[in-house]
Amino acid sequence: MTITQAQSAPLVAVVGATGVQGGSVIKALVESDKPYRIRGFTRDATKPAAEALKKRGVEVVAVNLVVENKEEVYKAFVGADYAFLVTNYWEHMSLEREVSEGKLLIDAVKATGVKGIIWSGLVSIKKISGGKYTSDAFEGKAQVTEYGRAAGVPFVDVQAGAYATNFLKSSFPFVVKEADGTYALPSVAPGTTVMSIIDMEHAYGLYVRWVLEMPVFPDGLNVYTTSWDLSQEDQARQISEGTGKKVVFKQITPEVAAQRLVSLGFPPAAAAGILDTFHFMDEFGYYGGNPSTNADGLARPTRTFAEWAKSADWSKVLV
Ligand SMILES: NC(=O)c1ccc[n+]([C@@H]2O[C@H](COP(=O)([O-])OP(=O)(O)OC[C@H]3O[C@@H](n4cnc5c(N)ncnc54)[C@H](OP(=O)(O)O)[C@@H]3O)[C@@H](O)[C@H]2O)c1
Repeated sequence: MTITQAQSAPLVAVVGATGVQGGSVIKALVESDKPYRIRGFTRDATKPAAEALKKRGVEVVAVNLVVENKEEVYKAFVGADYAFLVTNYWEHMSLEREVSEGKLLIDAVKATGVKGIIWSGLVSIKKISGGKYTSDAFEGKAQVTEYGRAAGVPFVDVQAGAYATNFLKSSFPFVVKEADGTYALPSVAPGTTVMSIIDMEHAYGLYVRWVLEMPVFPDGLNVYTTSWDLSQEDQARQISEGTGKKVVFKQITPEVAAQRLVSLGFPPAAAAGILDTFHFMDEFGYYGGNPSTNADGLARPTRTFAEWAKSADWSKVLV
């Protein structure tokens, strides 16, 4: 437990503190033997996740980080030495909104004079594929990255791999039950397609901590996080190993895949973006050919994907 209130310790402002990414960052900083002051943002400081942060010594600040609330957003970062920034595309599925909120965060952090911004971006699959594929969830973040790089403030992009926990969600099931009682891992991309998967809760924050604890803040660095680079066939095999349930990879047509996503409530544009992401991964890799950064040099070793699968809660999908 190294969260401190001592003014000599750097103050790290964490957006999304009650969520997956910000939560992982705070977890990794708490584990460090270096002292930090941490300020975590939420819209609701009374929710259980916010209360839990307060108990750990995090300064919880309630603020709605939207363009309509510019003044409060600027105030929220005052005094910060570093900021971890993330936007939540899936809450509204609007590229324009994600870009405007991302730019607002950068402007606000810059105004307070920080030593460094760590931003959770993604590559532009549109640019890398020459317009063949596009995904708003990636494009918005890539546009914010460009803005941040030009902002004249030390800026590092720590990109998140595909969350391992995506496999566990019934609202976005990678794993589905077949009529014969077995389970399939359906995808529009072939089984050989390799995905960079990140053990978000345990590992993502370690990369952010690694950046923060470098002797000099590595302005301009891109970090491509991954816990496991695994083909979809290997994912199915290791989920079977870890859970004892038979899960088999199954390639499906884009039409069937699109129908499935739309029936789960995804707007057609977002559904198309998800399918394009899989085609892009097949052709270019999740990070568009940039080498994914494995856990070497991080503060804690990564468990295997099969170990993760064994310990995960599959109750929503392996029913
Ligand atoms: N799933 C994947 O495989 C994957 C891979 C790479 C990148 N991503 C990206 O990850 C992002 C989501 O991050 P996450 O998984 O950490 O999200 P999450 O667990 O759903 O949490 C969202 C966090 O953002 C905060 N937040 C949202 N809107 C806010 C606002 N207007 N003002 C203040 N705080 C706000 C929430 O705070 P409160 O609710 O407490 O206010 C919460 O802490 C998305 O943009 C997605 O594209 C996902």
